[in-house]
Amino acid sequence: MLAFMRRHIGPNPVPTLCDAPNLEPFGSCRVCSVEVALQEDGPSKVMASCHSPVGKGTYITTNSPRMERLRKNIIELVLTDYDTERLKKEDHGANELYNVVQQIGFDIDSVRYPKGKTHQNTPMDTSHPYMVSDLSACISCYRCVRACDEVQGELVLTMAGRGFDSHIAKGTDESFFKSDCVSCGACAQACPTSAITDVFKSKETKADEVVRSVCTYCGVGCNLEVKVKDNKVVAITAPYDAESNQGHTCLKGRYAFRFYDHPERLRTPLIRKNGELVPATWDEAYDYIVDRFAEIVEKHGPDALAGVSSARCPNEENYLMQKFFRVQVGTNNIDSCARVCHSPTALGMQKTFGTGAATNSIADLKDTQLIMIIGANPTDAHPLTGAR
Ligand code: SF4
Ligand code: SF4
Ligand code: FES
Repeated sequence: MLAFMRRHIGPNPVPTLCDAPNLEPFGSCRVCSVEVALQEDGPSKVMASCHSPVGKGTYITTNSPRMERLRKNIIELVLTDYDTERLKKEDHGANELYNVVQQIGFDIDSVRYPKGKTHQNTPMDTSHPYMVSDLSACISCYRCVRACDEVQGELVLTMAGRGFDSHIAKGTDESFFKSDCVSCGACAQACPTSAITDVFKSKETKADEVVRSVCTYCGVGCNLEVKVKDNKVVAITAPYDAESNQGHTCLKGRYAFRFYDHPERLRTPLIRKNGELVPATWDEAYDYIVDRFAEIVEKHGPDALAGVSSARCPNEENYLMQKFFRVQVGTNNIDSCARVCHSPTALGMQKTFGTGAATNSIADLKDTQLIMIIGANPTDAHPLTGAR
């Protein structure tokens, strides 16, 4: 595996714009440039650190006056095609361009070059239920294009035009809605300036608290960062340090959270009385369950009861459920929904590999030359693994 310079230089971080933790090194913006020499104090060459492999016996200078001048000049050129007045007003925490401007100490008002034909009149694209673009804020870093290609494999985005006419095109230069976008949000998470974002403004939205959680839609186990404001979930982003999803989720994990406080959601137990479901307190519900269980066991014996636990519960809850049925109720009638879907695979894997559980890591998918799939549709059922 190649080690790239940027990931090995510290403690002062080298500024970056086109680089992102879950994308292949690209090397287009050059703001991460460093000086590389073969001898201490010897002649040096300027290289973009994000995509240059570290070489044995090289001397790397990250913050020389020459690099500071170069970075300022690069940012000045980027700003010839950016609404600098707008940049001053933006949400600075979320706008990485602004952060880099601050980091290198560039004065936004000091751009010397004539403004290009900016995209400031490009209308916003709000055609899509989740994805939004305001390409007047685009700095042509390609992060969105690469996220769509490398992370999701959907190939929806491309860079069209040249020079000041460069612009992000969706599909055949159509709207998000008309394109083949599957609303995974990878481009929005990758975009450093929120030129592409989503209806929740997931990156920019400020939260009272960010809670690390795990998506429960499928078995991939994507880690989530759930933004909570006024006790409500307001947005979800994907952490880069999670092995199973590495800064990505599918549409469901990222955007399908509004159900949780839907007005039709059940909020109290219901007990059927005279054919009608009537709201009850939890104490009433527990008492009712205990009474009915006791009555059934007394009349028909413990084997008249059975429990089915769920693959969506943690191990501890499944353990408690089987203990409850075996010890408290007194029956071995306890099963799990996993038997329905997983017992053929568990048996097959037990016989073939010696264990009825996954035998390879998700990362191994990259090193695999052939994957044979029978009776499964990972792209639909386990979208993150499917995308890989
Ligand atoms: S949301 Fe996903 S599929 Fe749609 S354009 Fe962005 S990266 Fe591609
Ligand atoms: S839309 Fe965002 S991620 Fe895509 S090229 Fe423009 S600035 Fe970069
Ligand atoms: S961050 Fe290295 S070239 Fe853009």
